[in-house]
Amino acid sequence: MCGIVGYVGNRQAQDIIVEGLRKLEYRGYDSAGVATLLDGRTHVRRAVGKLSNLANLLKETPLVGTTGVGHTRWATHGRPSEENAHPHTADGVTVVHNGIIENHLALRDELRKAGRVFKSETDTEIFAHLVALESARGLSLADAVRAAAARVHGAFALVVMREDSPGVLVGVKVASPLVVGIGDDEAFLASDVPAILAHTRRVIFLEEGDMAVITPQKVTLTTLRGEPVDRPVRVIDWTPVMAEKGGHKHFMHKEIFEQPRAVADTLRGRVGREEGQVFLDGVKVEELKSIKRVVVLACGTSWHAGLVGKALIEQFAHVPVDVELASEFRYREPIVEPGTLALAISQSGETADTLAALKEARNLGARVMAICNVLGSAIAREAEKDLGVLYTHAGPEIGVASTKAFVTQIVALHLMALGMGRARGHLDAQAVRTELQALSRLPKLMESVLDDDAQIAAIARTMLGTRDTLFLGRGMCFPIALEGALKLKEISYIHAEGYAAGEMKHGPIALIEHDLPVICLVTQGNGYDKMLGNIQEVRARGGRVIAIATDGDKQIGSLAQDVIYIPQCPRFLEPALAALPCQLLAYHVADGRGTDVDQPRNLAKSVTVE
Ligand code: G6P
Repeated sequence: MCGIVGYVGNRQAQDIIVEGLRKLEYRGYDSAGVATLLDGRTHVRRAVGKLSNLANLLKETPLVGTTGVGHTRWATHGRPSEENAHPHTADGVTVVHNGIIENHLALRDELRKAGRVFKSETDTEIFAHLVALESARGLSLADAVRAAAARVHGAFALVVMREDSPGVLVGVKVASPLVVGIGDDEAFLASDVPAILAHTRRVIFLEEGDMAVITPQKVTLTTLRGEPVDRPVRVIDWTPVMAEKGGHKHFMHKEIFEQPRAVADTLRGRVGREEGQVFLDGVKVEELKSIKRVVVLACGTSWHAGLVGKALIEQFAHVPVDVELASEFRYREPIVEPGTLALAISQSGETADTLAALKEARNLGARVMAICNVLGSAIAREAEKDLGVLYTHAGPEIGVASTKAFVTQIVALHLMALGMGRARGHLDAQAVRTELQALSRLPKLMESVLDDDAQIAAIARTMLGTRDTLFLGRGMCFPIALEGALKLKEISYIHAEGYAAGEMKHGPIALIEHDLPVICLVTQGNGYDKMLGNIQEVRARGGRVIAIATDGDKQIGSLAQDVIYIPQCPRFLEPALAALPCQLLAYHVADGRGTDVDQPRNLAKSVTVE
């Protein structure tokens, strides 16, 4: 999982590419590089570590040229090093690549025997050699790339330039994302829209097996077999500022605070309050009537949203729901009976395991649908072929730790449950109206939780030296306990476990010792009385209780060392509201410990390898 940017135009490519890569650092950041063409020669700069190292190098020895490619890497084949950093070159051919060429060993062997000398351990360099060999046969750049692509299999988004073809870049998309940006007398190729948003809003999302040849004036799209294809030009309404930090110290903090707006965007146009109607634009709601069972397929934080969704869909649509880890589902022999809906949940829409699980479910006869944040992403396109996509409209999420994507997924699931329940006749208009009225108040309620930021930061300061933590919740707040623990561990590197509070007695209770912070989700609507009992058990063993409770709770103050209050609300809104203090707690603990909050070690925003 890496980030790619390519530029052709009249401006100097270097700075445009580095700025673009900065927006893609979330895709990986162990090394980076840029190459430009000048007077028929390729010039390359690469540096290990963060993009700032490359930027410093470019300050000392700038690159000139108006055609160029750049790359930020997350190592898959070959350790992070300068030699393994992209771009890779061979005989005047330069390649940047996101993905994995699966038959690279066999090809490397074959190319070595043919006298080719390799400078890196990467699978990518093989592609540069293949294009060089095809070029030597006199093929145009596009034809050479096409011929080379026919020899490799795996997942790859590639951008290629060649010394004898200034002003031309060729991009190929197979299973990894690639978008084309169309500017005025300039064009771009990139892994994701934020990389080019400062220059253009007109983009084309390449589809599976597409090849794009871009010049400053023209974009030509074909399949890898050379047949012309037509893809829509979409106008992206995200402003570049939306993809910036907007005054916050970290993207994560900014994105936590964007949540009221993000939820409002998820709800926008979907709530017909008077008539008690839900509009699930992009989804074939009528066909949800015949669904007998829903199988949620997701990974990480999206899987936690799926667990909340199970309760919502079972409650409002009265359809049984299984929530599957996509990486597990695809490696067993799942039973998919007629009437099964496979529902993929994915922020990026590019998670390899989720995509593969969705395809597997479809092959087994399931209908497919997705909840995604990224327009035109691979999972979204897969679902568009069948029941469609419910977009969360959370806007770009840059912080690796997912926040606004999670809460908007819960809201989208809520809408879906209501729409499905209404379509199936399980809910009447009045029931839907009541729920929608409550949902519409959610952004305001969220704002009041975010007002507690300073208090939560103060609580976080007491946790900076802690080694272990426990998050406990019940009912729909159990997935929030899981998510709270995941947030804390992924950005602060403190060991954290999320547990269903009723299960504490079957194991985690052994961990409780003097001063162990135990974050207890003790809201009114999700197992309140039982949670009070669990809190007593924690206290009796010396644990330090940080409660997330409901405004107006008179008892909790005397039981917990710290209390963070969320506003009173219907119980189905509690997960979305209770998630916020968990996010802020994790954020402030991580920030206090000085970790790299937006780019935690070993993690990546979107995992496009298995
Ligand atoms: C990575 C991210 C997580 C995310 C998961 C699934 O691990 O770091 O934040 O929850 O992938 O991603 P998706 O884009 O499919 O929601």
